[in-house]
Amino acid sequence: MIGIISAMQEEIQALLNKLQNISTSTKGMRTYYTGTLFGKNVVLVFSRWGKVASAVTTTQLINDFNIQELIFTGVAGAINSKLNIGDIIIGKKLFQHDMNASPLFEPFEIPLLERKFLETKNPTKLLNATNKFLESYTSYINPNEAKNFNITRPKVVYEDIASGDQFISSTDSIKRLNHILPTAYCVEMEGAAVAQVCFEYNIPFSIIRVISDKANNNATIDFPKFANSIASNYALGILKKYFD
Ligand code: ADE
Repeated sequence: MIGIISAMQEEIQALLNKLQNISTSTKGMRTYYTGTLFGKNVVLVFSRWGKVASAVTTTQLINDFNIQELIFTGVAGAINSKLNIGDIIIGKKLFQHDMNASPLFEPFEIPLLERKFLETKNPTKLLNATNKFLESYTSYINPNEAKNFNITRPKVVYEDIASGDQFISSTDSIKRLNHILPTAYCVEMEGAAVAQVCFEYNIPFSIIRVISDKANNNATIDFPKFANSIASNYALGILKKYFD
């Protein structure tokens, strides 16, 4: 069984639309959709936003659904100028940018884990799948929607991600993040929490993020629309290639 999480329903909607042999169960205010997606046994759930929400959902997936692998898919804000709206980042190292128990522990160090970041599973298969998806991405997303969001020639990168319980929407915040975590390419609010739980339970995990905004003053785009029409269809296309 493979667990697939998004933060928002809109980010996972295209996968839910394709899920077959569905059975649902509701626990702790979340609905878990079990079924088959492109012939694989999966359980889909949207966690809601933030580190606590995604950590508790990940724990439930591991303990109640016996998953062997977890994939998180959703949107992120770019904090590296090489990234544009519609680009894909496959997570390498996941940092909690708001973890700071200094002077007892070093900034970003997760107390008692003796780690400042957690690493995703070997990305080769997922990167290959994403590159394949990008060759035909226009067959997954509506061209008018792509135009609305200024998406042309999206690319994929395999880079570090910074997670925290903050929506980032100013150049000052970007500068601060670039200073404290110079290798991080994007910000979001769940990945590093999912990473910590998966590390603690020894479950391989991947993080797929589509850039929805540049974490600046223009960051408050129509998220539900971007998540539904762009990000969830990207996830569908990538996972189809990944499961092939
Ligand atoms: N997810 C998408 N955009 C984001 C941003 N600007 N900050 C935090 N999380 C995000």
